[in-house]
Amino acid sequence: MSTAYCDLRCLRGHFLYLYLGLLLLLIPGEAYEKLSEDTLKALPRPSQDFDIHTGALFSPILQPRVPGTPGHTAVLEHFATFFRTTLPEWQIDFQNSTSKTPVSHGKDVPFVNFIAYRDPPGTAKGDVGRLTLVAHYDSKLEPEGFIGAIDSAAPCAMIMHAMRSIDSALDKKWAAMEAEGMDLLDEHHGIQVLFLDGEEAFKEWTSTDSLYGARSLAEHWETQMNPAMSTFKTPLSSISLFVLLDLLGAKSPNIQSYYPTTHWAYQSLGALEKRLRSLGHLKSTSTDPWFIDTSKDSHQVMAFGGIQDDHLPFLARGVEILHLIDFAPFKGFPSVWHTADDDAEHLDMDTVKDWSVLMTAFAAEWMELDGFLDHGDKVRREEDLDESEAIRLNKKTEL
Ligand SMILES: *[C@@H]1O[C@H](CO)[C@@H](O)[C@H](O)[C@H]1NC(C)=O
Ligand SMILES: [Zn+2]
Repeated sequence: MSTAYCDLRCLRGHFLYLYLGLLLLLIPGEAYEKLSEDTLKALPRPSQDFDIHTGALFSPILQPRVPGTPGHTAVLEHFATFFRTTLPEWQIDFQNSTSKTPVSHGKDVPFVNFIAYRDPPGTAKGDVGRLTLVAHYDSKLEPEGFIGAIDSAAPCAMIMHAMRSIDSALDKKWAAMEAEGMDLLDEHHGIQVLFLDGEEAFKEWTSTDSLYGARSLAEHWETQMNPAMSTFKTPLSSISLFVLLDLLGAKSPNIQSYYPTTHWAYQSLGALEKRLRSLGHLKSTSTDPWFIDTSKDSHQVMAFGGIQDDHLPFLARGVEILHLIDFAPFKGFPSVWHTADDDAEHLDMDTVKDWSVLMTAFAAEWMELDGFLDHGDKVRREEDLDESEAIRLNKKTEL
């Protein structure tokens, strides 16, 4: 059809095609499926292993972990052991760099970013877009003995809980797709965890004394090429959404929305908070909703300069960012921020566990896992797929 002969009606047709085309383009990166009420109610809450003194998952992170010190090595080891034993299907990687710091007396300090990811079986590395959950695991040099419980030991634990809670649902979903005769090569959704190193300044926050790990990883991933003909050119463009958790674990957080292009994902979290709370599945008491900008339009959202954090080197390279940090005008960061009081005892554990459930729900919606998560005693198996699920899966093949 040539545009020279195009009347108004035909132009409308063009717009329709353009619109449909855009929709199709958006789907691989932004598929998102709400969880049913039953699934929400059955999402697992962290229990004994989040105990701050004895909990096998959480307590090992609650120690000073300044880069280059034994505590830091121990926490890194803890992450690796957790993924190797609890999530053996995940790939683990380290991205290492060194840098001098204002207090290292000319010596190089090692920084190690911890990377873990899981892609659908049989997919090529460069063809999968990964929901990427991020927190920093280093702790601040001062004050001496600083724990950094909200900054960011608790966010690391929340992410670990979310990943172990959806992992077997990923198996089930992918097995069900294969059983339906679908080509998993068309399944572009993977998931990734980044525990970044060297976020904290050693002396005073500047562009060179901060974000050591994030700057190194973003630079490395921008230049590292995926195999030729890949859907995504670099590991950086393989990040479908960079969700950064920081300063979480204090009571009644205020989470703002900073980026118009990811405001829809922010709103999804706000909706999940509301649904989970009305189902009684959040235990912390909070007078106000955590996601204070949920009712705003995306064009009312802006990053008034933004908060400097690990997302910046990624944002600068065009990665889509969702920044979950407890900060509000007039209130600022939580009162324990960067003080000796940011320790395990000052955490609000109901809030820490609520965050863990909320992030589980978000990851499950992003990965479209409704129907594949265990409903308590009712464990679903691939052969139990009901018709509506089969239809839904078939529909997805057509896209
Ligand atoms: C990076 O550092 C980690 C932890 O020290 C180590 O296990 C790993 O082998 C290093 N990787 C490379 C490529 O040097
Ligand atoms: Zn900090």
